[in-house]
Amino acid sequence: MANRETDNSEVTPWTVEGEVDYDRLVSQFGTRYIDDQILEYFKKLTGEVSFFVRRGFFFSHRDLDWIFKKYERGERFYLYTGRGPSGRVHIGHLLPWYFTKYLQDKFKAQLLFQVTDDEKYLYRDELTLQGVREMTDDNLLDIIAVGFDARRTQILIDTRGIHELYPISIKVAKAITLSTVKAVFGFEDSTNIGMTFFPSVQAAPSFLYSEKLGRPVPCLIPAAIDQDNFWRMTRDVADKLGYYKPAQVHSKFLPALNKEGKMSSSLPETAVYTTDKPKDVERKIKNAFTGGQPTVEEQRKKGGNPQICPVFWYEQYFFEKDDRRLEEIRQSCLTGRLLCGEHKISLVTKVKDFLEDFQRKREQARTKVNEFLYDPDRQVVL
Ligand code: TRP
Repeated sequence: MANRETDNSEVTPWTVEGEVDYDRLVSQFGTRYIDDQILEYFKKLTGEVSFFVRRGFFFSHRDLDWIFKKYERGERFYLYTGRGPSGRVHIGHLLPWYFTKYLQDKFKAQLLFQVTDDEKYLYRDELTLQGVREMTDDNLLDIIAVGFDARRTQILIDTRGIHELYPISIKVAKAITLSTVKAVFGFEDSTNIGMTFFPSVQAAPSFLYSEKLGRPVPCLIPAAIDQDNFWRMTRDVADKLGYYKPAQVHSKFLPALNKEGKMSSSLPETAVYTTDKPKDVERKIKNAFTGGQPTVEEQRKKGGNPQICPVFWYEQYFFEKDDRRLEEIRQSCLTGRLLCGEHKISLVTKVKDFLEDFQRKREQARTKVNEFLYDPDRQVVL
């Protein structure tokens, strides 16, 4: 679709493949890098900068400064993010959710979490509504296990709560032509018409609390950058409909465990899923590609290259929270003090510990689902 140009990567809301050139996405999508000024703003408002931002996992934005300024002046914003339940959740999916939780805690923000079961049903030929329903119920456990604050979080599942969004969706839909969504999303004449309407369903939560409260309410969307097509379109119609344009903060993708972190949803061996067993974690990480040398001797002599190493990326983007420890790991890789086999063993331990805890929370989530589901009568303080 639209972004296939000079390299072999493809980034659209429905496919992310190959090695991703983030610089190109920033210029192509017209977003802004998180620069020193934004880092200072984070510090000023929250006293720190999250490792997700510091280490460049969340790297790009639109209007973060605008939303921070509003916040400083006492205008509350809400967070909006989502998940299309097309399969099991893996760690790469969790990272933006953990950052969303971080923002929720720091800014005491409301969160609207959209589950686009309609989108996945429409997009994937092989999926049945019943199948998507089961996946949705399963994915809800992952979302809740992240630890969002139940008093400040509402999960809206499209096929179950569409009446809340529908009036907004049709306003959005009426302001957008078929030729626009064709250009933005690469839709073709053979695309089903559900898909061509769907972008207005994903746009709607950006405006839901404005509708509820009867005044424009600022909205910040943390999401991976592949979702940006939706937001450009949403921002284009916001003014016309009397809403604020939603602000975004964009993440990269957690690379896969194979060579160069090339991602493909058809390679379950290269991602760690939230429901993986310890032996799966061990096998997947042991088989991971690394930036190391082919032999121990060469590794000792020349050192490895953490910059191209999925095992190191796992540490950097999530599993090693301590900056000093991370730098030690990097140095030991570079100097050949640390062998890839040893590094893998220590990462396996971290991932197993994380999953043990996560899976416990995931089980506990079964009894909490109702507290989180969107309730139209709930008073949302903004
Ligand atoms: N389209 C997203 C997906 O396929 C789901 C989604 C809906 C979303 N609304 C969102 C993601 C807002 C991030 C932010 O997973």
